[in-house]
Amino acid sequence: MHPSSCVVLKCQVKLPPTCNCAKPPSTIPFPRSLSLGCSLTTTSQFLPKAMEAPANITIKGILSLLMQSIDDDDDMKKKSVISLGMGDPSAYSCFQAPPVASHAVAEALHSHRFNGYSPTVGLPQTRRAIAEYLSGDLPYDLSSDDVFVTSGCTQAIDVALAMLARPGSNILLPRPGFPIYELCAAFRGLEVRHFDLLPQNGWKVDLAGVEALADQNTVAMVVINPGNPCGNVYSYQHLKEIAETAERLKILVIADEVYGHLAFGRNPFVPMGVFGSTVPVLTLGSLSKRWIVPGWRLGWFVTCDPSGSFRKPKVSYLAP
Ligand SMILES: Cc1ncc(COP(=O)(O)O)c(C=O)c1O
Repeated sequence: MHPSSCVVLKCQVKLPPTCNCAKPPSTIPFPRSLSLGCSLTTTSQFLPKAMEAPANITIKGILSLLMQSIDDDDDMKKKSVISLGMGDPSAYSCFQAPPVASHAVAEALHSHRFNGYSPTVGLPQTRRAIAEYLSGDLPYDLSSDDVFVTSGCTQAIDVALAMLARPGSNILLPRPGFPIYELCAAFRGLEVRHFDLLPQNGWKVDLAGVEALADQNTVAMVVINPGNPCGNVYSYQHLKEIAETAERLKILVIADEVYGHLAFGRNPFVPMGVFGSTVPVLTLGSLSKRWIVPGWRLGWFVTCDPSGSFRKPKVSYLAP
């Protein structure tokens, strides 16, 4: 989970009241802050025995609790722990942002030309640069008007879900997936329905499951490719099948490509926007991973829609 999610979105975690207390809750250093009001119930199986947490804490608090128990455990001290919860490449000295990027930012700061308010959708030159960059992998050209600059991919997710949420609507999310989708959906009152990724099949989308879940109130399905947390890189053929399924169901595809081009293994990275003529695609991405600068918080929300469906919206009735 991205650290900012702990600032932006908080959950109440309810734990069973029956554990034996090794430490009184008041001595456990939880970063306490806002509570979103979405409720995630967990059971003691996820927590070390003989530990109890207060009834109202953050997810980060639970993580601290687990990490603290590892530190306390003599056997575990011998093992080094790798956090799989946060994909921050800059945490490793072998991954550094290219000097050309830092110099460009320093130069922009020193120029004093960018200290004023910029358009909410992003500076024209930024939108143009992102459109040109993404068009390089597509069979059509994106325009600056297709691009909306966001604060990291996290804000792009929130904008996408906020835009689609209507009373009674639902969204299809992958399981396993990236938990910020569930948090944003809860915050926006959007019902979540999970389709499976199939481990025995390279974590492909269970398309039959998608068809079974969707109804007339389904607004979109989310495809994370390359995938977090499973590491899948989908083939051209599988992405085509996903696009055709979404088209049949008349739902759009939200393509989370924050790991775009970070593809290992046999399949090269293919952007979902390649199938934008089959089904409208909202592509979400950021500088965070490929350019190793998650702290810069620069992302995008892009309409990959050469048929212009997004510009001809239709109002449909949502059953209660
Ligand atoms: C699948 C996925 N989407 C979105 C994000 C958020 O990206 P950003 O750090 O640019 O907000 C992450 C971060 O780990 C991610 O794994």
